[in-house]
Amino acid sequence: MTQANAQSKRDILVTSALPYANGPIHLGHLLEYIQTDIWVRYQNMRGNNCVYVCADDAHGTAIMLRAEREGITSEALIERINQEHQQDFAGFLIDFDNYYSTHSEENREFSGYIYEQLKKNGHIATRSITQAYDPEKNMFLADRFIKGTCPKCKSEDQYGDNCEVCGATYTPAELINPRSAVSGATPIDKESEHYFFRLPEFAEFLRTWTRSGTLQPQVANKLAEWLDAGLQEWDISRDAPYFGFEIPDAPGKYFYVWLDAPIGYLASFKNLCDRRDDLDFDHFWKPDSKAEVYHFIGKDIINFHALFWPSMLYSAGYRTPTAVYAHGFITVNGKKMSKSRGTFIMAKTYLDHLNPEYLRYYFATKLTSNVDDMDLNLEDFAQRVNSDLVGKVVNIASRTAGFITKKFDGKLGQVTESSKLATFVQAGEEIAEHYENREFGRAMRRIMELADIANQYVNDEEPWVRIKDEDKAAEVQAISTNAINMFRLLMTYLAPILPATAKASEAFLNAPLDWNGRAKLLEGHAINKFKPLMNRVEMSQIENMLDASKEELPAATGEKSAKEVESHVEPIADEIDFNDFVKVDLRVAEIIKAEHVEGADKLLRLTLNIGEGERNVFAGIKSAYAPEDLQGRLTVMVANLAPRKMKFGLSEGMVLAAGPGGKDIFILSPDSGAKPGQRVM
Ligand code: 2FM
Ligand code: ZN
Repeated sequence: MTQANAQSKRDILVTSALPYANGPIHLGHLLEYIQTDIWVRYQNMRGNNCVYVCADDAHGTAIMLRAEREGITSEALIERINQEHQQDFAGFLIDFDNYYSTHSEENREFSGYIYEQLKKNGHIATRSITQAYDPEKNMFLADRFIKGTCPKCKSEDQYGDNCEVCGATYTPAELINPRSAVSGATPIDKESEHYFFRLPEFAEFLRTWTRSGTLQPQVANKLAEWLDAGLQEWDISRDAPYFGFEIPDAPGKYFYVWLDAPIGYLASFKNLCDRRDDLDFDHFWKPDSKAEVYHFIGKDIINFHALFWPSMLYSAGYRTPTAVYAHGFITVNGKKMSKSRGTFIMAKTYLDHLNPEYLRYYFATKLTSNVDDMDLNLEDFAQRVNSDLVGKVVNIASRTAGFITKKFDGKLGQVTESSKLATFVQAGEEIAEHYENREFGRAMRRIMELADIANQYVNDEEPWVRIKDEDKAAEVQAISTNAINMFRLLMTYLAPILPATAKASEAFLNAPLDWNGRAKLLEGHAINKFKPLMNRVEMSQIENMLDASKEELPAATGEKSAKEVESHVEPIADEIDFNDFVKVDLRVAEIIKAEHVEGADKLLRLTLNIGEGERNVFAGIKSAYAPEDLQGRLTVMVANLAPRKMKFGLSEGMVLAAGPGGKDIFILSPDSGAKPGQRVM
């Protein structure tokens, strides 16, 4: 018997990776929280006791420096970001049982305790290492806080570990003209004592653990390669100044953020247990626990979750995770998310324009149990949602409910298509397997096959024709009763994906969506008046979201994970040929008027004279220019760009500007002799 149809109630603890507390949630993050939330909702619908905890990952240098830049304490910063994150997650219907912070007393205690255990077991080593040091800021500099000229291609302003122009990787020592990204000072070498976790001691344990069904096959293979290559000791300490927990017996030394981040899973769960009588921490975490523990993560942080974390737990006397499930990254329209294309989409920006369930569904259609990357193609997104959810599923109810309400006083009759409905009920087993195995795409395909059967049934029976004939009233009631039961089963299977529509469907059906009790059909049952359950996605909503995303560029993102840190140097776009280039008509334009745009943080509205008439253009340059600085100046514009409808009006072209952003955006102003309308070559 598989786990999916086992009868006994399972105790399951689930986590998603803890997002950094220094940047907003974006669509790249959401894939993981949506995947996890769907799985958790599915487990609970099946009657399991599944608990979902998370927290902000609140420590580290990046957070400390950002707070400093904002002139607030790190505590105030992480508190504010925690609120924002919780709001974003709630907006996407992510239903955590607890959302906490790694900067908590529980986490301090667990981190200290686990460290003590590791030390007691001889798994901590200390030794002196030499690192780059900022003599002005009096702090050690991690590689990404050192910048300089790339030793290979000589591009300036590159990070200490890799060049974003030519892709070379190197050590900060190889950088030409290195300097601190924090103060600009030239780094010096400095020694200090560090604490290491002796990971090589766990090689044998990890060989067994990583091969015991805890990891996806692709991931287990990767791990085998790392294990074969040999493990290194892991540096778990950082010197002050650092925002984190001071190591109990080492004043001035702090736990590296990645030491206490996964321990944050324990801390968040403990914090929940202390508030819930039905949850016992030890029941889940003692070494021989029968409860299950799953970590959902991105594939970039596998080493932390499948090497360090199980070894730490093992040494400290806790159980190890039942499994770690990694997913791939998302691209938008086939490319890396990009600010300039507007595809670096913040959770909040999405929610300003679109229904969260659209994205939950689209991700579900594409999610598998493997670590492959996924593309969010926005046209496909609109098409899938419209055709599947609106066109197929909701349609079944909307085309039959009216008969019941108007002709039968809201009362369903008896089911007459028992064998068809038996197929729908039976499919629940297969769909359950897919959910259990995180093959959500397969589950969605099966559900849509059923939706096709339901629609075909209604098409064939033509209740709208029969209703005209008084003698056929009973038939219409039966057809509608069959269809509404089909709809109910489909919504039951979709409930983990579409929690809000599921709730609205329960109100309409006047009955719960009960997976385990689904064989009991609704007969002779009073339903409520049908209200539209979901609207179509319009491409204009998507376009508005992209426009708004160009406006709302994210603030600095986090330490450690390169995946979400978009460089200030945008990668060079795809190559175009000369014929494409000459199509761009660049003209000298005189800014005759510049105005603030109500409700826009980044945009100014420019009225441009290009010789032959005026153009209205919105430009994201408000951080660098006051309107009065611009009036009368010359700039260069793309004069033949198709007008674009933006949230604030029509933009008829684009002005050229360069610079890293903020105050440093430069409108390229030609020599004063230039005349509006002159062509720029
Ligand atoms: O990569 C990241 O975004 C980390 N903040 C994830 C931490 S997961 C866990 F270990 F806390
Ligand atoms: Zn380079």
